Amino acid sequence: MSEQIQKITVTIDGKTVEVDPGTTILNAARQIGGNIVPPAMCYYKPLKGSGGKCRTCLVEVSKGSEKDPRPMPKLVASCSTTVMDGMEVKNITSERVVDARKGVVEFLLINHPLDCPVCDQAGECSLQDLAFEHGADTSRYEFKRREFDKIDIGEYIKLHMTRCILCYRCVYTANQLTSNREHGVLKRGDAAEIGTHIQNSLDNEFIGNVIDVCPVGALTDKTFRFRSRVWYTKPMDASCSCDKCSGKVVLWMIGNEVARVTARKDQYGEVEEFICNDCRFNKKDLKDWNVEGPRKINRHSVISTNHYEKAAPAHTTLLNKA
Ligand code: SF4
Ligand code: FES
Repeated sequence: MSEQIQKITVTIDGKTVEVDPGTTILNAARQIGGNIVPPAMCYYKPLKGSGGKCRTCLVEVSKGSEKDPRPMPKLVASCSTTVMDGMEVKNITSERVVDARKGVVEFLLINHPLDCPVCDQAGECSLQDLAFEHGADTSRYEFKRREFDKIDIGEYIKLHMTRCILCYRCVYTANQLTSNREHGVLKRGDAAEIGTHIQNSLDNEFIGNVIDVCPVGALTDKTFRFRSRVWYTKPMDASCSCDKCSGKVVLWMIGNEVARVTARKDQYGEVEEFICNDCRFNKKDLKDWNVEGPRKINRHSVISTNHYEKAAPAHTTLLNKA
């Protein structure tokens, strides 16, 4: 008989959940859901080893555990801190966290250009959302920002290092999906940059996924770059029988034309299944795809502009009650 796993209890912003031992605070919060889930700019569930770099997911542990209730003296990264039984955590209910997160956003924006109006990632940029929800109104930074030339890394991908926030997600993606580790973050501190050695891994047929995992507009799809603002496109779920990947994608349509193909992402912006380069870059004919229907987009996202969904069933409930 299989041994029953003893669940442990954690309370986050007053909401209690039972989770498996070894669960991180961030994933425990995701099990509760809603606005108590800390934002994450570097953690990415499908990527092993990701997290612990950006500090946007900081939380306050106000009670360590049932056995040792002392609070943790410093804020901790929720993506890499595992829960203890009886732990109590404060995220949006902690002034320290709100203040620290504002500081983290300010740091992330120190070198990031404020070029959202011309950036290809506008409308689906995690940093834009983070700054809007958690950032300060103004920057105190007065110095020149880092600038880099744009680099063509292969036929399909452009690297604009100026926008990179060094989250390492693309490094982990290529590590996980390609056979040779050819690239990484070169140099350290304020000189750190994604090495152009990434060029060497571009012959891998899954490398296009680095575009999907990049939280900002640093890695962009050259087949779509500057063709349209994302909110003018219509996202459709589609699939094909592919012998390299699941073939489950989102088609971003302009009229009847397939403007861009991406992997499907979940509510936390994480790829559900990585797709191959062939599906992403080469199948731009509607005949290549079996279109399943419109992609459900969060109605608070700018992408949902002009996309109509069925009204919430509130009136139906009232009618049912009548
Ligand atoms: S290029 Fe994008 S995914 Fe890669 S480290 Fe920079 S921000 Fe992260
Ligand atoms: S998401 Fe936790 S440190 Fe970046």
